[in-house]
Amino acid sequence: MTQPSRRTFLTGTASLAGAALLPKALFAGADLPVLRAAESTAQLAPAGYPRTPVWTYATEGAGTVPGPEIRVAAGSRVQHRLVNDLPQPTAVHWHGIRIENAMDGAAPLTQAPVPPGQSFDYDFVAPAPGTYWYHAHNRSTEQVARGLAGPLIVEDREPWLGEPGAASRELTLVLDDWLLDADAAIVEDRWDDLHAAAHGGRMGNTVTVNGNAYPELTLRPGERVRLRLINTATARIMQLDLPGLSPRLIALDGHPVPPRAMETILLGPAQRADVVIDAPLDPDWQTTLLLDPGNDEWVDIATFAVSGESLTPAKADVRPLPAWRTLPAPVLANPQRETLLMEGGAMRGMREAVYRGDTMDFRELASNGMVWAFNGIAHGMDAPMFRAALGRTVHLEMTNRSMFPHAIHLHGHHFEVLRRSGAFNMPGDVRDTVLIGADETLEIAFVADNPGVWMLHCHMLSHQASGMMGWFEVA
Ligand code: C2O
Ligand code: CU
Repeated sequence: MTQPSRRTFLTGTASLAGAALLPKALFAGADLPVLRAAESTAQLAPAGYPRTPVWTYATEGAGTVPGPEIRVAAGSRVQHRLVNDLPQPTAVHWHGIRIENAMDGAAPLTQAPVPPGQSFDYDFVAPAPGTYWYHAHNRSTEQVARGLAGPLIVEDREPWLGEPGAASRELTLVLDDWLLDADAAIVEDRWDDLHAAAHGGRMGNTVTVNGNAYPELTLRPGERVRLRLINTATARIMQLDLPGLSPRLIALDGHPVPPRAMETILLGPAQRADVVIDAPLDPDWQTTLLLDPGNDEWVDIATFAVSGESLTPAKADVRPLPAWRTLPAPVLANPQRETLLMEGGAMRGMREAVYRGDTMDFRELASNGMVWAFNGIAHGMDAPMFRAALGRTVHLEMTNRSMFPHAIHLHGHHFEVLRRSGAFNMPGDVRDTVLIGADETLEIAFVADNPGVWMLHCHMLSHQASGMMGWFEVA
């Protein structure tokens, strides 16, 4: 006789005597769906190249890059048991989701990293609709670069897809950047390369869309599609051009914006943009998704081919996404004022900074792997950058005194862009990750409404590892 599975057993029991009488702890979390992190391979490079050894997430079957799309209704729970089959400790961060602190996955601040062979239960409510992602948050420079990232979609609260002026279909496009050798294997010896860290970060040489180099995507003639674009690269800022598809932006970092026509879409590492495109009616039309790798030499990274039966084109005006009602508006009358000064990197550097309680000159810092600092402190994990009273509006003025752009991410909160001296951001935009250019000053504000300890770091992950890291506390 075969052993009944725990699920069958519980169902059977429930129908007889009521499962509520069973001791709760014994079965708590017994049915959490697994999210397994493990070594695997993926066909990243074009056909003909070998498969690439990668680290993957899987909810069932073999792991993939990107990880499986996790999709939930707004206000419902995300529940996963992370099972770590990797050779390293790991943790999962749910990027952009404003959840309870203990579920944030920001090792070592909010939880200990999960050792190989062990598991951790993530269970939280996804409060607001939008395009998010999840990724490894321990030794992220290596773990994200090896493939540990996937899309997390929180569905619209009110029907949008299929409504007049909206899209009839949506497509998640995860953009990534890999550093591959001639055999399509990930270059493994440069995770902590200080030269890359002191410049733009560890740049790749192969850009993939949903885990494939140069994929072909099909659109129906006349079709209006919502693209959920996610930049999971560890360093590369992506500027995208969708020629002939008249892209209109409808959300940034999950947060709706009034639809606006865009010539190009700018996505820093960890940023997301929801974009509506219209396919031409011409059935044999085709265009390429172009990427500016940062030097104004546009390269194609994917093809959009129009084929199949025509759809009636949607009316010109794009229907806005339903607005969130879950994010409190900053109260700017008497905010708590904080500053964030970014220093370091090649060409400017910094005279000195504090690292682990000691003031060090740049040589000593570099010998400790530190080339960046926030407010004169490199990798400041000992004490919070600031403490905010629960419910208080924080006004944060950020100044980038380095020669490189940065992608600053606040955990647990979305913030509003108030003022900027550069061109990367629009005042009024609400984001969780913001690009700040060389010598730029940027003012943001948010209501500190989520209690706990929250990381604040550059999402160029080698910058994070080499000093651009801190945290704040809301209590
Ligand atoms: Cu997406 Cu602290 O990270
Ligand atoms: Cu940076």
